[in-house]
Amino acid sequence: MGETVVADEPAAPAKIRPRAERTPAERTALARRLRGVYARPPATWPAPWIDPGVEWRELALLPTVAHPPENPFGPAKAALGRALFFDPRLSASGRMACVTCHDPDHGWADGKAVSLPHGTIAARNTPTIRNAAFHAVLFWDGRAASLEAQAAEALTDPHEMAATPDHVIDTIATTPGYRAWYTEAFPDRPFEFAAAVQAIACFERTIVGGRSRFDAFLGGDAAALSDAEILGLDLFRREARCLTCHHGPTFSDGGFHDLGLSFHGRSNEDLGRFRITHDPADKGRFRTPSLRDVTNTAPLMHTGMFQLRGVLNMYDAGMATLKRQPFERDDPTFPVKSPLLKPLGLNRQDLADLEAFLGTLAEPSSPAPAVGALDSE
Ligand code: HEC
Ligand code: HEC
Repeated sequence: MGETVVADEPAAPAKIRPRAERTPAERTALARRLRGVYARPPATWPAPWIDPGVEWRELALLPTVAHPPENPFGPAKAALGRALFFDPRLSASGRMACVTCHDPDHGWADGKAVSLPHGTIAARNTPTIRNAAFHAVLFWDGRAASLEAQAAEALTDPHEMAATPDHVIDTIATTPGYRAWYTEAFPDRPFEFAAAVQAIACFERTIVGGRSRFDAFLGGDAAALSDAEILGLDLFRREARCLTCHHGPTFSDGGFHDLGLSFHGRSNEDLGRFRITHDPADKGRFRTPSLRDVTNTAPLMHTGMFQLRGVLNMYDAGMATLKRQPFERDDPTFPVKSPLLKPLGLNRQDLADLEAFLGTLAEPSSPAPAVGALDSE
């Protein structure tokens, strides 16, 4: 059946027994002590558990967005971009817009397992566009270098909006509201597809987070987190080893790692970063996603196969190790799971505390601020 497993391949890392649970009194005492520790500035926080040689940055408030010099912020430009983002008339079918898959009511994702994405490399889970402005490269495999390049691909991809540049331009030129914004945003510039793409990217750079309870905590409100959430924060940075890859203001190292989810050699294989670089070392590696607002963007992972508790259980087990099928036995380029993943030995309380902490990264569900309100320059 193609799923025959080589007998001597270890199925998973050796399990370790979950550590003992704490009594309610012990939890309260520990939380009180940790609250005192974490209420102080992050520079004074206890050292995280990070393997030697791994570069990391402390968790932090998001910086202001830097709009690139070749596409500076302008209110009319962002307003035009926002309208285009929501407008299905741009698509060939007249029924699909960016918002179809990047919906503010689903944390700017779509709540579905997978969609056939831009570039149709493989069906993958739709990431949020919130905070995309902070990613150095875009997509699960990092194949787009800018929001502008990315938007151009999404508009014209035949499996997606399937629009022609001419159709996009005609829609703008023949819609009075669009004409007015366009003329204000791009004075003296003829109607151009590249400008429409710049407007969409400019709008996306205004969709940033930073209003979560954890941000309030970082801002000095020590009461913003519950006891369980404080315990979870400490686990995230130390015993659960999450900070290794999910760090800095966005909770992402911007790097690519193999978590054992490539399905190498199976019908649902997705080799991630390898498909872009063709370097065998990149087989099965995907970009570390931000964890901001993660409780609103399930299902999770590039496969869209998991809910949050399932993801935490897998990390606790050190992630599943992909088994070699007989024909892969001697393949020197078989994907190797990141050595940074290790069985953690967490107990049920720990997993619940971690989940509670991740919930503090949720952005409030109030409508996105008016375009321009987050203008940084
Ligand atoms: C059919 C659903 C669909 C539509 C429509 C769609 N997207 Fe996407 N989008 C996806 C999927 C799926 C991915 C991930 C693809 C991958 O990584 O290979 C993605 C990725 C992205 C990313 C990268 C996010 C990150 O963290 O790397 C951005 C930005 C984005 N889309 C913006 C847009 C814009 C702008 C439009 C409209 C012009 C659009 N999308 C239309 C499904 C969609
Ligand atoms: C070795 C680096 C690494 C470590 C350590 C790590 N992660 Fe991840 N994380 C990733 C990568 C890479 C992905 C995406 C993998 C994929 O989709 O194939 C990911 C995905 C996730 C997701 C899904 C996010 C989404 O939007 O789909 C969650 C939740 C998550 N990690 C939480 C954690 C927690 C909690 C810990 C600690 C227990 C942790 N991670 C430790 C690299 C890491």
